[in-house]
Amino acid sequence: MPDRQAGYRTPARMFHWGIAIAVLLMIPAGLTMTREGLPRGLQDALFLFHKNLGVLLVPFILARLIYRTIHPPPPLPETMPQWQIRVARISHALLYALLIVMPLSGFTRVRAGGFPVELLDRLGFGPWIAKSETLAAAAQALHFLAAYLLIALLALHVAAALHHALIRRDEVWTRMWPPRQG
Ligand code: HEM
Ligand code: HEM
Repeated sequence: MPDRQAGYRTPARMFHWGIAIAVLLMIPAGLTMTREGLPRGLQDALFLFHKNLGVLLVPFILARLIYRTIHPPPPLPETMPQWQIRVARISHALLYALLIVMPLSGFTRVRAGGFPVELLDRLGFGPWIAKSETLAAAAQALHFLAAYLLIALLALHVAAALHHALIRRDEVWTRMWPPRQG
């Protein structure tokens, strides 16, 4: 049974903050590298960073989901209104869904477009997806839409987290923020 007082377990906190830092680097890199007029060297470096960190994140995201199935999160405080608990559940589920959709659509866009993913190429993996302009365009559109949905959800997520930390001062913040209390 999850322990309400102790909050999230240490591995759950490490997964959360590790992946959060990576995603908070991936988003500005993605938004910058697609801008017109960027110096070629900087653009190449950002693409290299974005594609390879994105692919590297996949095993951590899958491990996080498996860990969460084995160790379900502690229940939210009973003092929270039901609608907020529902919104928290839905937004967390959507965040997890986007953590899958983003790398998948990015990878498909790159591979169907016939571009390299340097880390996987170095390790000798095949392209896995045949070249297709139609598939590349569909994956690009999905990656773009999902990126803006993720940004909007994260704004809500961070605002809710700060609301709990600074205004309500309940356990919701401390049960996720390291180090583990109590
Ligand atoms: C940037 C990428 C981020 C992603 C993808 C993300 C995702 C998530 C997810 C899916 C959960 C639910 C955990 C679970 O119950 O399994 C969660 C919880 C939480 N997140 Fe984030 N998060 C991110 C960034 C942040 C940031 C920047 C903050 C704070 C400013 C934050 C604060 C929290 C807190 C306090 C909780 C615990 C909520 C609870 O007790 O249920 N997160 N996050
Ligand atoms: C958590 C993972 C990821 C996040 C949060 C993310 C985020 C973003 C964002 C915010 C953009 C700019 C908006 C857009 O033009 O679509 C972008 C663009 C892009 N991302 Fe990702 N991305 C992720 C994973 C990946 C992966 C794994 C790849 C490829 C292996 C990838 C390849 C690309 C490419 C090629 C673009 C430019 C799209 C275009 O052609 O206009 N992304 N990404």
